[in-house]
Amino acid sequence: MKVHIIGGGNLGVSIALGLLKFSPENQVTITRRNTSSILYLEKSGATVTVNNTHQIQEADVIILTIKPYQVDAVLAEILPVISNKIIASAVSGLSIENLQNKIGTANSVIRIMPNIAAQFGASATCIAFHEKDKEKAEQVVSFFQSLGTAPIIDEKLMDAATVLAASGTAFALRYIRASMQAGIEIGFDWQTALAISAQTVKGAAEMLLEEKVHPEQLIDRVTTPQGCTIAGLNEMEMHGFSSSLIRGIKTSLKQIKG
Ligand SMILES: NC(=O)c1ccc[n+]([C@@H]2O[C@H](COP(=O)([O-])OP(=O)(O)OC[C@H]3O[C@@H](n4cnc5c(N)ncnc54)[C@H](OP(=O)(O)O)[C@@H]3O)[C@@H](O)[C@H]2O)c1
Repeated sequence: MKVHIIGGGNLGVSIALGLLKFSPENQVTITRRNTSSILYLEKSGATVTVNNTHQIQEADVIILTIKPYQVDAVLAEILPVISNKIIASAVSGLSIENLQNKIGTANSVIRIMPNIAAQFGASATCIAFHEKDKEKAEQVVSFFQSLGTAPIIDEKLMDAATVLAASGTAFALRYIRASMQAGIEIGFDWQTALAISAQTVKGAAEMLLEEKVHPEQLIDRVTTPQGCTIAGLNEMEMHGFSSSLIRGIKTSLKQIKG
């Protein structure tokens, strides 16, 4: 597929890098107004340009990774030169209906919510679309599957997906940072503490994804009666470990909904 990414920032670049690495049969064009910081992508085979309409007519999918307030300006540039394209929008808070109203019926809209782990083929990209665009959406689903997992969700859960999958990256990283800080306090240098904490989280996640069981089943395998793990877990819970995470996620969702 020919993929045209408009908005070469944090997310746009991670999708481009992921596609170049895990789906090299795709051709990738990526745009932003100031391209100097992303010209290095050309070495991996992408076309980098300031011109949003550069060869856009040949694109199969146009991915929007711009901020909500940048959408109207970008659409004003590209709409006169495109028709019958799939526009996959990662723009937070912009519904399929609102975007479809802006672009008219000549192009299809798919809503995507990837995260920056797309770069490592490890994004959880939630995807929503209207029934009429099902066939086109399947193409988008299949290439996001090459960048991790790509569950299809009801659009009304898109804000929740933004919090769980996109903001969730920051939440998980903050857990790793806290674990690492504790690691330093109990004797490791920061590099070793980071390596151990990050790999431990990766290992726990891999076990869950592989075994498809409830986390408590795996926790039970680690918690010896009267052992150190259950003592630590209970102390954390008494200080609000799970409840603070749940409250944080619900607060993020409230913030998104405005
Ligand atoms: N970051 C995440 O983890 C994440 C996850 C899921 C969804 N999202 C959503 O994805 C969108 C982008 O987020 P981000 O974090 O990647 O933002 P970002 O780093 O600010 O990237 C936006 C990019 O768009 C470019 N841009 C602005 N106007 C443009 C135009 N007219 N033509 C071409 N490029 C233009 C900007 O570069 P120039 O100023 O150089 O043009 C900038 O690099 C947001 O709607 C966000 O909510 C982000």
